[in-house]
Amino acid sequence: SSNICVLGIESSCDDTAAAVIQNGRILSNVIATQKIHEEYGGVVPELASRAHQQNIVPVVHQALVKANIDKKQLSAIAFTRGPGLMGSLLVGTSFAKSLAMGLNIPLIEVNHMQAHILAHFIDEPEQEKPEFPFLAMTISGGHTQIVLVKDYFEMEVIGQTLDDAVGEAFDKSAKILGLPYPGGPVLDKLAQEGDPLAFPFPKPQVGPLDFSFSGLKTAVLYFVQKKTQEDPNFVENNLNDICASIQYTIVEYLMDKLKKAVKTTGINRIAIGGGVSANSGIRRALELASKDLGWKTYVPKFEFCTDNAAMIAMVGQLKLERGLISDTSVTAKARFSL
Ligand code: KG4
Ligand code: ZN
Repeated sequence: SSNICVLGIESSCDDTAAAVIQNGRILSNVIATQKIHEEYGGVVPELASRAHQQNIVPVVHQALVKANIDKKQLSAIAFTRGPGLMGSLLVGTSFAKSLAMGLNIPLIEVNHMQAHILAHFIDEPEQEKPEFPFLAMTISGGHTQIVLVKDYFEMEVIGQTLDDAVGEAFDKSAKILGLPYPGGPVLDKLAQEGDPLAFPFPKPQVGPLDFSFSGLKTAVLYFVQKKTQEDPNFVENNLNDICASIQYTIVEYLMDKLKKAVKTTGINRIAIGGGVSANSGIRRALELASKDLGWKTYVPKFEFCTDNAAMIAMVGQLKLERGLISDTSVTAKARFSL
């Protein structure tokens, strides 16, 4: 197993992505982000499937060219089996199967959530790899989970959202404020000039390690409606303070849950992933926690945090090394637990 070269394919949501990994090092990481969803203010599944169909061949081709790897040098094809949008998953799954059959090499299914976590093991000079066991918090537009990671393929979900993902909470709040989609990064930017304690928003009470965000969105909506009735320019005049208050509420909520998870498990190594790990508030809060509470925190490079195929290729390599090969009759799974 001294020269392993795996192609990873990701198509679970609205990004068509392909990457090549060689002995733990990412040689290429190509992603085609679908712009079409912006005008709808959210991902439209049917449009996503069609765009994947259109993008997948050029994206895979580019990944091979950028890696300077010929198809014939590949050792295996790894693909996202789930969880995700069924129509989107079917495109990547069918393509991966055909390519593996054509090249007569192993096919390896990958769980997208496991991949977000194992992205921490991509061989990057400036990236420190977490030591087992650790806690992984995956926060994005599609997921919000806290996972106890005992080993590469021994993981247990100890907390998760009961409704919206945290990225959706950012995006839906931003939409109510009239910000463009996806609103998370825009809200983050505006929040930096605002007072986080200007307006209090509720933190929903659910299981100690679980999350709920649908109530926050409703609270923001009612708040904005009420204040706008009193003053039509309220949002415009208080935008920074509103954004800062929403962000503060969300970040405090995430940190509360992490603190409980650390207390329950006795583990203080925390790895985060997903698009929301770019948020300046959560990054600052984690830095503070490592200073004040002695936590060891890990954040991968942003390109390995958001949906990408490098993480799929990484899991592909880990599985190939362990002989974890899939049968060619494997099917996509929209719901696929860890
Ligand atoms: O991982 P990702 O690219 O895609 C998935 O959803 O799987 O995450 C995208 C999400 C969006 O909801 C986006 O608004 C959010 O991550 N996001 C942020 C920030 N950057 C991206 N949310 C808050 N602050 C940010 N700086
Ligand atoms: Zn994801």
